[in-house]
Amino acid sequence: MAPRVLVVGSINMDLIVRCARLPARGETIHGDALRTAPGGKGANQAVSCSRLGARTLMVGRVGDDEFGAKLRAGLVAEGVNVDSVRVDQEVPSGTALILLEQDGQNRIIVMKGANAGIGEEEVAVAQELLAGVDVVLMPLEVPVDTVRAVAAAARAQGVCSVLDAGPATPEAVAAGLPAAVDVFSPNQIEAEAFTGIRVRDATDARQAARRLIEMGARDVVIKLGDQGAYWLGEGGERHAPAFSVDPVDTTAAGDAFTASLAVSIAQGTEMPEALHRANAAGALACLKLGAQPSMPTAEAVEGLLQERTG
Ligand code: RIB
Repeated sequence: MAPRVLVVGSINMDLIVRCARLPARGETIHGDALRTAPGGKGANQAVSCSRLGARTLMVGRVGDDEFGAKLRAGLVAEGVNVDSVRVDQEVPSGTALILLEQDGQNRIIVMKGANAGIGEEEVAVAQELLAGVDVVLMPLEVPVDTVRAVAAAARAQGVCSVLDAGPATPEAVAAGLPAAVDVFSPNQIEAEAFTGIRVRDATDARQAARRLIEMGARDVVIKLGDQGAYWLGEGGERHAPAFSVDPVDTTAAGDAFTASLAVSIAQGTEMPEALHRANAAGALACLKLGAQPSMPTAEAVEGLLQERTG
C-alpha cells in the first residue's frame, strides 16, 4: 500500500526576483524579471510527498483570490487531496518574496495571509484525518498553537509527527516544540535559533542535536545544505553527506528533503537510508527555478541514487 501522509501547513504564491547581488541599504538595483511559482513550505512538502508516491492530504487555507485559485488547482493537478484546504473570504492568500542570487542561494520574506488563520477548525479536521495516515508533516508557517495541537492529537493516535522547524520565530522557539513532535527537523539557522549553538558543520550539528534531545526531542534531523544531514535519535546517529550539484535555485530544497524523510518514515525505512534518500531529493530540488516546479519525482530520486551510488 502507498504510504499516507497528512500535511498541515502553509500555501503561498512565491514572487521571485533573480539579482546579480543583493542591494545594500538605500541602494536600487535591477532584477532580471518578476516570476511567480507556487510555494509555501506546507504545499511544497505536500507536492513533494505526492510526487514521491505518497497518498497525500493537505489541511490549509488560501484566500478568495487569483493566487488562491491557482494554488489550489496546482495541488489538485499534483494529486494532493485538497478537500480540507479552506478558502478564506476575508484574508488574501499567503505570498513570499524570494530574492535569488546568481549562485542559487535565496532570501525569503513571507506574508502569512490566510495561513495565519489556520486554527481550531483545521485542528478538528486534522484530528479526524489522522486516523487514516502513517505520518503527519508540518512546517512552522502556521500558528504554533495549531502545530502543537495537531502534534498532540497525532501522539494520542500513535501517528508519527514530523516537524520542519522553519521559520524559527521567537514564538516558535519558546513553545517547547522539540518535545511535542516525534521527528524535529531544523536547518542550520533554525537549529541555532532553537539551541543557541551555531551550526556550521556536522560536529556542531551533533552538539545542537544533543541539546534538542535534552529539550525532549525523540529524533532530530538537522539539514546541513551542501554538507548533507545529521540525525541523532533513539536508534543511533548518522551524518549523511550531500549529493553534489550545481544549484540553479535552492528554494524548497529543505522542503523536498523533509517530505522525502516523511515518506520514508511512512514506508518504515530505517533512518540512515531515509537520510540518504532525502539528501537526493533535496539535491534534485536545487536544479530548477521555483519551489513546487522543482520537487523531484520518485523516479528522479531513484535515478540519482543509481547514478551516484550504483
Ligand atoms: O521553503 C521555501 C518556501 O518558503 C517558499 O516556497 C516560500 O513560499 C516560503 O514558504
